[in-house]
Amino acid sequence: MKEIKAIVRPFKLDDIISSLHKIEGLPGLTISEVKGFGRTKAKDAADSFQDGLHDYVKRTKIELVVNNNIFEEVVNVIQTTAHTGNPGDGKIFVIDVSNTVRIRTNERGEQAI
Ligand SMILES: Nc1ncnc2c1ncn2[C@@H]1O[C@H](COP(=O)(O)OP(=O)(O)OP(=O)(O)O)[C@@H](O)[C@H]1O
Ligand SMILES: [Mg+2]
Repeated sequence: MKEIKAIVRPFKLDDIISSLHKIEGLPGLTISEVKGFGRTKAKDAADSFQDGLHDYVKRTKIELVVNNNIFEEVVNVIQTTAHTGNPGDGKIFVIDVSNTVRIRTNERGEQAI
């Protein structure tokens, strides 16, 4: 099992979700609004804002845990759909997941995703 954690431009979210819905076996996902910065300092970005002492940009985080047989397709779909080619397009992180619990059914592991 892999967790895919993608930080993307908010205006790209609808297109990304539409693309993800086309992947067979996609089990679910979580979305949150986040702020942060990358290697390039946020204050140099057109969409940056100051909060306290520091500068940030607003981005959307998509988190999903999927079986090993579809994670590469998920990563490719997000990368392709989120890309503009400009600084600030975001990052995709892939993390090994050791277990999943489906609370209602008490299933464990891949079948619980
Ligand atoms: N190493 C990281 N760890 C956690 N979050 C990150 C990391 N790098 C980027 N992010 C998140 O992704 C957002 C967008 O990052 P961004 O695409 O600007 O990265 P970058 O390294 O500056 O690359 P680019 O040169 O393409 O702008 C950041 O605001 C932050 O929320
Ligand atoms: Mg940047």
